[in-house]
Amino acid sequence: MLVVKLLIITSVLIYCQDIRKQSIITKGDYATIYFGHLNEEIVCLKSFKDPLALDREVEDLQLLNHTNIIRFIGRHSVDGVDMLVMEYMPTNLNKVIHGEAKNNLTLGQKVELLRDVAKALLYLSENDKYHGDLKPSNILLSVDGDSIKTKLCDFSDSKFRRTFMYMCPENYQYGYKFSYLCDIYSFGMIMYEVLFEIKPFSHVPDDSDVFKNVFEWKQQVLEGRRPYIPTIHSTDYINIMTRCWQSDPSKRPTYQEIIDNLK
Ligand SMILES: Nc1ncnc2c1ncn2[C@@H]1O[C@H](COP(=O)(O)OP(=O)(O)O)[C@@H](O)[C@H]1O
Ligand SMILES: [Mg+2]
Repeated sequence: MLVVKLLIITSVLIYCQDIRKQSIITKGDYATIYFGHLNEEIVCLKSFKDPLALDREVEDLQLLNHTNIIRFIGRHSVDGVDMLVMEYMPTNLNKVIHGEAKNNLTLGQKVELLRDVAKALLYLSENDKYHGDLKPSNILLSVDGDSIKTKLCDFSDSKFRRTFMYMCPENYQYGYKFSYLCDIYSFGMIMYEVLFEIKPFSHVPDDSDVFKNVFEWKQQVLEGRRPYIPTIHSTDYINIMTRCWQSDPSKRPTYQEIIDNLK
């Protein structure tokens, strides 16, 4: 088993020395992300606090090949630190909707990016995989005029750091085994955030006990509490979005239904 793992790891090492780590893009609790260059190409480097998380992400990413999933380039040691090397994307969905790179997306671009996320998730499910931590900061974007490119990132299987707002209610139940159906719930929350440009549950006042008390929060989500729907877009979109966040996972739509409705 160890031999097989070593073979997999060595097969993706980049032997080329012409890889340069440059400035930090972002530093989180678990990983640091850098700009880099591989020959003439701008790339992105990710170093991990937990080396096993690097192994997990490399193992997953190297097998995935889809236009809407970040392209894996290899792993490389810089100053003795092993790093994941991947294609570079200029921004993420969180920044585009709420932050520094706020960009007024047209409805057409919103629908296209949601459809592309659903296509990536469909591809994962067809390969018996799920993302597990689907949220706007894990959706990378490149927006250039009308054109928009969307790629999922962060396959480090971070079950201990999932974000409440996007987490399916069954995940709170003891002994629950995560599945792609939980990604569909998270997708519904992302649809909400993209269509309305507000965080799910942001109408709950800051001083609300719900946010102070995680137990109370989970209880309310388990009892069926969902984000308030402020205005009507197209009833078709609202319908598919609310079906994604059904409490009963078997009532959630399939990825194909989602894609067909995102026109
Ligand atoms: N390939 C990439 N190109 C450009 N920026 C990236 C890339 N991958 C990640 N980032 C940036 O770094 C952030 C954190 O990366 P991520 O892989 O989600 O790590 P973490 O495990 O810390 O959440 C992303 O939200 C994005 O802003
Ligand atoms: Mg992330």
